[in-house]
Amino acid sequence: MNTADLFGNVVYPEHRDEPLCDGAVVLRGFALPDETMLLQSIDAVVAQAPFRHLTTPGGFRMSVGMTNAGPLGWVSDRHGYRYDPIDPDSGKPWPSMPDVFLGLASAAAAHAGFAGFMPDACLINRYTPGTRLTLHQDRDEHDFAQPIVSVSLGIPAMFLFGGMQRTDRSIRVPLAHGDVVVWGGSARLRYHGVLPLKPNHHDVLGAYRINLTFRQAG
Ligand code: SIN
Ligand code: FE2
Repeated sequence: MNTADLFGNVVYPEHRDEPLCDGAVVLRGFALPDETMLLQSIDAVVAQAPFRHLTTPGGFRMSVGMTNAGPLGWVSDRHGYRYDPIDPDSGKPWPSMPDVFLGLASAAAAHAGFAGFMPDACLINRYTPGTRLTLHQDRDEHDFAQPIVSVSLGIPAMFLFGGMQRTDRSIRVPLAHGDVVVWGGSARLRYHGVLPLKPNHHDVLGAYRINLTFRQAG
């Protein structure tokens, strides 16, 4: 339950910072004040650019449904991974980045010590129970000085946060609706992934988890 402070501002008691390592932090509940606007904006993006299951360069269908907002969208196909200004399904530019996305991403980055973050890409991942994202590095962007900002909505997930080698031990970080993870600096290229989601139900998103991953790609 939320309470109001002396000035009438809503205070989220679950709003805490949890450092994972140098350069990486979980901001618990950081997205909750924007929840309604975020969900409306996601619906608007998805109406223009529906979720789809991309193919990996190795020919596997990704279990996580994906779409994008912003000037650049992350895509994968038989030729590899890339950022593309055009949605290959529609032949049109990706939907523009909603203001609430930009505001949240730059505020979270600044809160984590990365002032001036201006993402040009938002990958929207949709998970259902059983879907997962194997350990990977985010390394298709030009400037590794820019952090990654990752927003969790809907049913919970177990995030894996590893080291600089795929085989390094990873820690397990439970992520819930409204949590934001920021990693940059010396943590920018750490391996990360998501364990298969357990069956669950969220009041607003039902059996789905939506993750927004913000990057400055170009
Ligand atoms: C990603 O690494 O692109 C997504 C991570 C997540 O879904 O939490
Ligand atoms: Fe990633």
